[in-house]
Amino acid sequence: MPSSYAFFRGKFIPLAEANINIMTHALHYGTAVFEGIRGNWNSQHKQIYLFRQKEHYQRLINGCKVMRMNIPYGIDELCRVTVELARKCAFEQDIYVRPLAYKCSEALGVRVHDIADDYTVFIIPWGRYIDVDKAKCCVSAWQCPTDNSIPPQVKIMGHYAGNAMAKSDAVEKGFDEAILLTHDGYVAQGSGENIFLAINGKLITPPTWNNILPGITRDCVITLAKNELGIETAERPIDRAELFFADEVFLTGTAAHVTPVAEVDHRQVGDGEIGKITRQLQQIYSDVIRGENSKYLHWCTPVYEK
Ligand SMILES: Cc1ncc(COP(=O)(O)O)c(C=O)c1O
Repeated sequence: MPSSYAFFRGKFIPLAEANINIMTHALHYGTAVFEGIRGNWNSQHKQIYLFRQKEHYQRLINGCKVMRMNIPYGIDELCRVTVELARKCAFEQDIYVRPLAYKCSEALGVRVHDIADDYTVFIIPWGRYIDVDKAKCCVSAWQCPTDNSIPPQVKIMGHYAGNAMAKSDAVEKGFDEAILLTHDGYVAQGSGENIFLAINGKLITPPTWNNILPGITRDCVITLAKNELGIETAERPIDRAELFFADEVFLTGTAAHVTPVAEVDHRQVGDGEIGKITRQLQQIYSDVIRGENSKYLHWCTPVYEK
């Protein structure tokens, strides 16, 4: 029977047995760095493809540098552990891999030095993240922290407290996702996604220096739009009102894939339907992540031996 496993304290064990003490430092101060990697099931190939593992682990290691953490594994080893873990789980559906580097000492005190680090990773089956075909979004009252508060380029756990509040505010008001602005009022990103606008056949997305997470899906979409559709992406600050004028808006993320946005703050985007560029990118991206496009197989790591 397929089931969830974790790599915990150097061993592969059932997820239910991978537990930590309540005094663990990360639990109190958000002193952890995480990643989210998708494994995408291809029923014809009878294969799961882990998508862009190396880039995710590079970002994890960058985050560890910020948080002064040392984990005893390099990128290749982190990738190998993930493949072995995924094989052990034996799922035949879409999976989600959650690596976590964390301050594991059972100690109190606000600091990052003189605290031991540990690394764990677990896998669960996970389908759609934003469970609608077209999302309704609102601009959140919560802003993205700047690089001088919590560096947004990596997935530091504490950073996500603000994003979680933004998401809950949005959902409880009847929206599907929140769009956060930067401290100076430009469009930054969703609570767990990057954002793109299509205006007059061109794509626009906030620049990496605008306090956003430089998403791996964002990078895929920029690459695929250019290579497959001949569409360039301008990386420039985006005014809030441009969300209302855009022909198309969509969100990108490992969890959310390419999610069309139909409405922002009760204003219809374009004609309220999934736009042409968005639809094309959704299809191309979906093929790529399931190992269906030979040009991009270098982004896919097969789990099962054939
Ligand atoms: C705040 C934020 N922005 C953007 C993204 C998209 O990043 P990626 O495409 O690397 O998953 C995520 C997802 O992890 C996120 O949490």
